Amino acid sequence: MTDPFTVDVLVTEADRRRAVEEDVRSGLSTRPRSIPPVWFYDEVGSLLFDRITRLPEYYLTRAERAILEAHSADIAGASGAETLVEIGSGTSEKTRLLLDAMAARGSLRHIVLVDISEQVLRVAAGELEQRYRVPVHAVIGDLRRDLVRLPRPGRQLWAFLGSTIGNFEPAARAALLSQFRQAMGADDALLLGTDLRKDVDRLLAAYDDSEGVTARFNLNVLEVLDTTLGADFDPRRFEHRAVWNAANSWIEMRLRSTSEQQVKIPALDMVIELEEGEEILTEISTKFDRSSLPGELAGSGLEVGSSWTDPAGDFLLTLARPGPSALR
Ligand code: SAH
Ligand code: TRP
Repeated sequence: MTDPFTVDVLVTEADRRRAVEEDVRSGLSTRPRSIPPVWFYDEVGSLLFDRITRLPEYYLTRAERAILEAHSADIAGASGAETLVEIGSGTSEKTRLLLDAMAARGSLRHIVLVDISEQVLRVAAGELEQRYRVPVHAVIGDLRRDLVRLPRPGRQLWAFLGSTIGNFEPAARAALLSQFRQAMGADDALLLGTDLRKDVDRLLAAYDDSEGVTARFNLNVLEVLDTTLGADFDPRRFEHRAVWNAANSWIEMRLRSTSEQQVKIPALDMVIELEEGEEILTEISTKFDRSSLPGELAGSGLEVGSSWTDPAGDFLLTLARPGPSALR
């Protein structure tokens, strides 16, 4: 049976493997050791992330949904878009609020979804095609590289939700925002979701929940490396840690070796010696300051139109457009 939607493969299995190899080789051979977060999201990882979004401690998804419930009609109207392009789309659950608003205006013509996680992307694409009856492009791609290679029919609203932008360090974040700017047309708009700074206890709980789902999500990256690279990481010999880095205003997710141990990574011809208590950095999640975002976006050629928070002021959605300085 053929898919009722189009699947574009920009990252093949071979590409993925090569990228994991490169990332792991450089990340684990330098100190502090690190693994980039993109590799969390195999099928199991994506399912665990979906559970994270429903945890009582993980306020981000609920807060972002509340903003979309209140303002999707404004956003759809202000953008004037006929195509929704979602980057790092996952289950595209909240996205339906935007799509409903675009459909209600009669402007929705196309949907483009981009994610590295193939299974979750296919399910979401199928559901959206059924629900909206417009062409859906599912693009299996790496957002760090592929934004400029996307199909782009009609005037677009680009959605980058879930504070995924916060998972990039400042230099990479600026580069990524510039790539959005480069990929967007002059009449397109970017809707950016960012988590805001708040009480540290609440932040820590959101990344270290009482059920241990976040811990399992974090530890799952080791299983991804075992499967992809034939490594022999034993997740039982690591523990999950969430740490607030005040100087950089971000949460760090780490995996702590509970004993002195040796890990073999045959595909890379590497053997890693870990001390007891040694930590591997797996993720940062930046907490933004509402007042500094317009300047940051301007630095990447994007001009803020409107922004909205939820009633508690936990999360921010910003609608931005290519700025005059970057017009060519
Ligand atoms: N937008 C959803 C999911 C956020 S989780 C939400 O707001 O809930 C981050 C998503 O981005 C996951 O679906 C993950 O598979 C995807 N992702 C992470 N790194 C990526 C990369 N480098 N390229 C493409 N997709 C990526
Ligand atoms: N973008 C999400 C965030 O920063 C990703 C995320 C949520 C995450 N929980 C996590 C990443 C736990 C790693 C571990 O909130």
